[in-house]
Amino acid sequence: MTDELPALLTEARTRITEAETLEQLRALDAELLGKRSRLATAKARLGSLEPEARREAGRGLNEARQEVERELAERRQALEALARGTRLEAERLDLTEIVPRRRRGHLHLVTQARDRLEDVFIGMGFTVADGPEAETDWYNFGALNFPPGHPARNMYDTLYLEVGEPETVLLRTHTSPTQIRVMEAGEPPIYSVMPGRCYRQDTADASHLPNFHQIEGLVVDRGITFGDLAGTLDTFTSAYFGPGITTRLRPSYFPFTEPSAEFDITCTFCKGDGCASCGRTGWLELGGCGMVHPNVFASVGYDPEAWSGFAFGFGIDRMTAQRSGVADLRDLVTNDIRFLEQF
Ligand code: PHE
Repeated sequence: MTDELPALLTEARTRITEAETLEQLRALDAELLGKRSRLATAKARLGSLEPEARREAGRGLNEARQEVERELAERRQALEALARGTRLEAERLDLTEIVPRRRRGHLHLVTQARDRLEDVFIGMGFTVADGPEAETDWYNFGALNFPPGHPARNMYDTLYLEVGEPETVLLRTHTSPTQIRVMEAGEPPIYSVMPGRCYRQDTADASHLPNFHQIEGLVVDRGITFGDLAGTLDTFTSAYFGPGITTRLRPSYFPFTEPSAEFDITCTFCKGDGCASCGRTGWLELGGCGMVHPNVFASVGYDPEAWSGFAFGFGIDRMTAQRSGVADLRDLVTNDIRFLEQF
């Protein structure tokens, strides 16, 4: 019975070394040591031997079994190490590899300008607020002291939405309705800017877009004066456009401010000397402004005796285009990559 053991062991060793996967090794383990293995059946036959021979054969079988177990364990360790290595190799990230990549995009010129404007106002202590683009007639006009049929409504080529009663819901024509929302949402003091998209029924040309951006400013506090408005515009202007660029105010009219003004900035091209860009005046028109009208305070339930304030608003697209030497505003919205990647 023990005569065949050396041959059995040699064969077992060869087959164990030849096993290439843990799967194969598991099957081999069952075949060499399992219930139906040659070692197991030999053990079952021990009972038929004389006691002396049985002890000897039993020892031989045990040693053979231990030897096979050792060989199996050794091979299992080796195969496990190999599998771990393969897995690590597969999961390896080569951080030094240079993959030719597509160029990354960046924010649109107008978005960059809006972000910078926000930054400058945040630096001056303002918060940034947001409002909806689809507005009601009340927010866009009524609360801003444009009664129904008021001629100043004709200043805005309004796009109405087919929602509810005719001409009650519209695309906001300016960011001023957000003033109303900010005042309704809280109590003074208010120091806020409100950037956003506006819409007017306009044919796109080199200097007009039917969809454009404005930034609105609103300050409401005790004892705010026209001097504060002028000072704020000046501070903003030199912070945003650089030293030497200031503002001037010209009388104007808006229903929601009284007095009202339009404000110009020193021409950023000629620094005020007069050039083709500013029509030889030395000034560039920027936006509108004024002291918040008492009727606007009444619309939001603020006491005009207790509070005073100013507001201003200007277009972002035209200003940015001018600064960046963009001659045609339509280039801002045609999505030509050759245009966009220049900024
Ligand atoms: N909303 C005005 C416009 O678009 C600009 C403005 C804002 C004027 C705030 C005064 C105060 O024409």
